[in-house]
Amino acid sequence: MRIAILSNGPGNYSTKRLKEEAQQRGHEVKVIKYRDCYASIEKDNPAVSYKGKDLGTFDAIIPRIAAYMTRYGTAIVRQLEMQGVYSLSSSISIVRSRDKLRSLQLLSKAGVEIPKTVVSRNSADIDGLIDKLGGGNTPVIIKLAQSTHGKGVVLAESKKAAKSVLQAFYLNDQDGTNIMLQEFVEESAGTDIRAVVVGGRVVASMQRKSLDDDFRSNLHKGGQGTAVKLTDEERKTAIRAAKAMGLSVAGVDLMRSKRGPLVLEVNASPGFGVEKITGRNVAGAIIEYVELNAKRRKKKDKVGA
Ligand SMILES: Nc1ncnc2c1ncn2[C@@H]1O[C@H](COP(=O)(O)OP(=O)(O)O)[C@@H](O)[C@H]1O
Ligand SMILES: [Mg+2]
Repeated sequence: MRIAILSNGPGNYSTKRLKEEAQQRGHEVKVIKYRDCYASIEKDNPAVSYKGKDLGTFDAIIPRIAAYMTRYGTAIVRQLEMQGVYSLSSSISIVRSRDKLRSLQLLSKAGVEIPKTVVSRNSADIDGLIDKLGGGNTPVIIKLAQSTHGKGVVLAESKKAAKSVLQAFYLNDQDGTNIMLQEFVEESAGTDIRAVVVGGRVVASMQRKSLDDDFRSNLHKGGQGTAVKLTDEERKTAIRAAKAMGLSVAGVDLMRSKRGPLVLEVNASPGFGVEKITGRNVAGAIIEYVELNAKRRKKKDKVGA
């Protein structure tokens, strides 16, 4: 097959691993920097050019769209979808996954357990909202709907603190990113679980722990990962979460709480650092999935034609 990996970082570990696995399995692979692509939109002819030339034809694309370029990256993926190219992740699923509020709405509709969450544009309601999350003067999490690497997540120790943080966030910005108030899952603060789902199976899972007293366990914040065995319930929750988001490849973040696993977010382009921690071949599982599904779709298209 001819496979394109859409990635702005050809040197990234995940991109290199996908390329390596695909080549090992006899495929022709090209890494395409989507920031250097452009799309021409005209009637019946959705073209994509790369470095001044037509991009050419591929049997499958593997989007690795970075959060900092979601809008542009997904526009290029969408253009390729319009050409009928098989994409491992659909542009719409990637867009949805980049908004934590939209994701939580989809997850809750699909019956996936999530931390209690409220969203409001009015900081005057704050006391009532915090009461909804547990009440009293318990700490709450304040989270930007669009953010990554733990940068947009704040722990407010009291109602008063929450109010001033919210007021600062809302300042001069009526329609910026949404801000969520979330129940603080205190019992496993500083720890979370990353489950990598590929084609309805969990292929690797790790626990991440912050090494200092930070409540955020992101590896980008200095968290450390170790392999972990999931319970059946955790596995099922991760698989259901990926499905609810329409993602065949997903990094599902979970927290172990008193009332069972709670999903925090679902990442559409999970990092492959989990391979080094668990010894699992995530890239290989992804290429295998692409082989099966790009072919299956081709057959279906023929029947339909
Ligand atoms: N409701 C919560 N209760 C306790 N800890 C949380 C909660 N939400 C997030 N965290 C911690 O903060 C980290 C980052 O939050 P997350 O929602 O995954 O955003 P990001 O996209 O920045 O990774 C999580 O991995 C977890 O350790
Ligand atoms: Mg996260």
